[in-house]
Amino acid sequence: MHKSGSVRLTTAIALFATIVVSAAAAPQEPPYQPQLNQPGKDVQWVPTPPALVQKMLDLAGLTRDDQLVDLGSGDGVLVIAAARRGTRARGIEYDARLVDYSKRAAREAGVEPLTRFVRGDIFKTDFSDATVVTTFLLPSMNLQLLPRFLAMKPGTRIVANTFAIGDWAPDATATIEPCERWCTAMLWIVPARVAGTWRTPKGLLVLTQKYQVVSGSLGDEPLLNGRLKGEEISFTAGATTYTGRVDDYRIRLRASGDDKPMEGRLQAAPRR
Ligand SMILES: C[S@@+](CC[C@H](N)C(=O)[O-])C[C@H]1O[C@@H](n2cnc3c(N)ncnc32)[C@H](O)[C@@H]1O
Repeated sequence: MHKSGSVRLTTAIALFATIVVSAAAAPQEPPYQPQLNQPGKDVQWVPTPPALVQKMLDLAGLTRDDQLVDLGSGDGVLVIAAARRGTRARGIEYDARLVDYSKRAAREAGVEPLTRFVRGDIFKTDFSDATVVTTFLLPSMNLQLLPRFLAMKPGTRIVANTFAIGDWAPDATATIEPCERWCTAMLWIVPARVAGTWRTPKGLLVLTQKYQVVSGSLGDEPLLNGRLKGEEISFTAGATTYTGRVDDYRIRLRASGDDKPMEGRLQAAPRR
């Protein structure tokens, strides 16, 4: 080898050694740690406390057949807790650092295969496949999401930490005691859309609806205590209580004291 070539090689080896040594000596970046109240796109990060996480999943009646989506999933506590119960769960989170943190936490918890963390804006990301939705968002955000919640499949459960969804009354609430902050879980069950006029063997069933509360009439009788729980409907007309199920155009009802179910058909409905 020429002298100049050997000098070049020696210089290159020295340079490489310097890079390796300085890389080893460089201080390691500590792994990212979320900071309480750190700013978020539309709301800051505050985690749901572990006891309320469990209460929310209990209130949802979570099963292994569910698909849970946490809107604004933060450090992943709700998603990971759902996966620990054997349920597939997904988090949608705007902050990429929290997404990476959650993925790592799910891996460390051994539930990675059941979890997914998506970096995205909840207002622009589809979650209509969820059977259970969890939220810990500001009331104004819940209100903005209300039309999307109501358009979900009847029976979908929405569970919130503390904050209401507009004027939609919850179907159930549960509280943790003792507890200082973030103590209440609320459950809403997406009701079927039933408003309209239904032709039944007992006459016309006219239904109006506000969320899960149903009023109207059956024949000449006004309806009392009309309620929906997903696709399940119940009401009283005169001395008879009716319970049954509704799908898009068909209603099947059983009258108290009568073994035979009756079936009704939707005749006219307001635009859905
Ligand atoms: C109050 S924390 C709740 C975190 C988690 N769901 C929990 O209950 O522990 C709200 C989270 O929503 C995220 N966030 C805020 N605006 C968002 C948006 N438009 N889309 C997605 N995530 C958002 C924040 O970064 C934060 O992590």
